[in-house]
Amino acid sequence: MIVCVCNNVSERKIRLAVDSGLTSMVELRDELEVGTCCGKCHACAKRVLRESLADM
Ligand code: FES
Repeated sequence: MIVCVCNNVSERKIRLAVDSGLTSMVELRDELEVGTCCGKCHACAKRVLRESLADM
């Protein structure tokens, strides 16, 4: 599933980033550019981040 349409970031990409050590929205933004355009994906990206961290 695509989370951030503007920057073509999928849920899988976010999960892989969390697996590699990222733990915050700031880090996801810096690494994958999630939410850096229209910002509509912020809530969804945050949920995926939270779920990914919980699954670890
Ligand atoms: Fe993520 Fe627009 S959908 S910045």
